[in-house]
Amino acid sequence: MIEIKDFRYWHIPPAQTIEQAVFSETAWSEATFWGELAQDNRYYLAVEHDAELIGYGGMAFNGAEADLQTLVIAPAFQKQGLASTLLKKLLEKTQTTAARRVFLEVVFDNEAAINLYKKFDFKQISLRQKYYPNGKAAIIMQLDWRGQ
Ligand SMILES: CC(C)(COP(=O)(O)OP(=O)(O)OC[C@H]1O[C@@H](n2cnc3c(N)ncnc32)[C@H](O)[C@@H]1OP(=O)(O)O)[C@@H](O)C(=O)NCCC(=O)NCCS
Repeated sequence: MIEIKDFRYWHIPPAQTIEQAVFSETAWSEATFWGELAQDNRYYLAVEHDAELIGYGGMAFNGAEADLQTLVIAPAFQKQGLASTLLKKLLEKTQTTAARRVFLEVVFDNEAAINLYKKFDFKQISLRQKYYPNGKAAIIMQLDWRGQ
């Protein structure tokens, strides 16, 4: 059974294992997750399959702006609509805050993620060369719902 829950500290070790599998050298450490959960402007959700962590995503809220901090579905569970469900919930929460714009950064060649974000109406606003530790460029995307 698939369930979406609040992300809690016990999700950190399995999240770090998933990070290694999907991001290898740019994986977040457990300390990074702890640092995220320690901040009161963060909102993280966990996706569980039969009580096992299979995905997670999180937002940071800063006044009129919000940032999508991370969004990951474990490889065995991708392409089943789970990231879409998770992102929808994160954006629904964001719409209850003061945020009017959501920003994110994504590796320029991450076609799966870029397609997903475009489906949610994120638009590319800039490209930052050599942004990641591995030298890859980042695409910065923005979702703007002012006036809606
Ligand atoms: C990006 C990611 C979160 C998508 O998760 P997912 O659960 O497979 O996504 P969904 O099933 O909800 O797919 C939604 C849309 O994303 C796009 N998409 C997903 N996987 C794709 C792929 N392999 N190739 C191209 N487009 C893809 C499609 O537009 C898809 O819509 P469609 O099903 O109508 O074609 C997942 O591939 C992942 O975790 N990747 C590794 C971590 C990562 O890169 N995270 C993003 C960091 S910015």
